[in-house]
Amino acid sequence: MNSLQRLITCPTWTIAVTGAQWGDEGKGKIVDFLSGYAEILVRAGGGANAGHTLVVDGTKHVIHLLPSGIIRPGTMNLLGPGVVCDLAVLASELTLATRYGAQVMLDPSALVVHPLHKILDNVREKQAGDNAIGTTKRGIGPAYEDLASRRGLRLGDLTSRKSIIDAFQQGGYWQEKQSLLRTLTPEGIPSLTEIVDWAAGFSDQITPHLGDTRAKIAHALASNKRILCEGAQGIMLDLIHGQPPYTTSTGSTAAAIMATTGINRFDAVIGVTKGYATRVGAGPFPTNLSDRSGQELRERGHEFGTTTGRARSCGWLDLPALRYACRIGGITHLIVTKLDILANFPGGIKVCVDYGPNALIDEYTTLTTRLLTTAQPVYQEFDAWNEKDLIAHKLGTGIQTFIKLIERITEHPVSAFTHGAERRALRFLGR
Ligand code: IMP
Ligand code: MG
Repeated sequence: MNSLQRLITCPTWTIAVTGAQWGDEGKGKIVDFLSGYAEILVRAGGGANAGHTLVVDGTKHVIHLLPSGIIRPGTMNLLGPGVVCDLAVLASELTLATRYGAQVMLDPSALVVHPLHKILDNVREKQAGDNAIGTTKRGIGPAYEDLASRRGLRLGDLTSRKSIIDAFQQGGYWQEKQSLLRTLTPEGIPSLTEIVDWAAGFSDQITPHLGDTRAKIAHALASNKRILCEGAQGIMLDLIHGQPPYTTSTGSTAAAIMATTGINRFDAVIGVTKGYATRVGAGPFPTNLSDRSGQELRERGHEFGTTTGRARSCGWLDLPALRYACRIGGITHLIVTKLDILANFPGGIKVCVDYGPNALIDEYTTLTTRLLTTAQPVYQEFDAWNEKDLIAHKLGTGIQTFIKLIERITEHPVSAFTHGAERRALRFLGR
């Protein structure tokens, strides 16, 4: 057993799972596995821009908002105050949780993403033309602007029609939003009554789940429970540490999870990375492959957005970026996913180990937009392994070399890897 496996079987722990790339690393699968050991699961940030795909006994679930624990009977799943909530998505995931016999508690402070946020997100992206960020158009940026401006509708307001109206009218909020949208778009926008009706329509399903999630976490910490926090997006998309403007609107580091949950230490912060790299939306992506290999990765790995259906850009694993994500994101252990996708890969596999002469970096350099835009990857090449090397009693030497290279450059242990979508296709490494 390695140190992470030993930790998981301890009677008490706090663990965070974060994305160590640009999102879509396969965090859902890791959280799904760990949820078998956790008592409390927490989703800390982001919104329905995320999409976690889980395959259990051949059935596929895509979960956007609630922790992936909602398909484990008996788990307690918290949606924290830092999440922005798409009410229709939330309602359907509450139904799924009930079907699986999982409990859910929603923080009354969590902000509601309403139709005007989505209109604004869409309008801005359209107006930006070639300079668009490539958002998921789920209203995430505009919703977090409201959070920072201390206005907007929160889940706790859904308890009465009056409190919904009050939230929209506070400090001229509705008027301001309306006049902004009128100047930006000729298309009609919903009236206040329509928006209030829309929000009130979710009250009956959502309000019974409202509860003090931070108190729940504090109690769980005091009584030594096993707490699992599920990160959304990836550290390279972090609002501060990503490459602006090509980021999401929240933090995705371990520290960002701590900030909204009140947890102040993790026994482990698992960084999840694919054995290659993908990015969806615009922004610099040094190892991007626009050739046949990129297409091959996309087809083999089904690299199409779970939330938007967009084709993801695909490229080789970028170790300087992963090293940066490990450091800035507070990662302690790595798990590498989708190694089956690289099995028998035509022409072999490459891994970026450094950026060339245009972007000189050392292990502490901040990866800015400018730096990643000029980076020319320096590659190390590998022969592709066979599918059976991944499950053989003795791990194939090709994979061993690949994993050792990741460990050497990131200076972080690789605790496990995955070799398929199913729950059981996860292999821990003996170290
Ligand atoms: P937003 O979060 O919808 O505003 O999108 C901002 C950027 O983050 C875009 O590049 C999106 O493609 C990316 N993004 C947001 N959420 C995810 C995710 O869960 N997986 C992958 N990319 C994401
Ligand atoms: Mg995803």
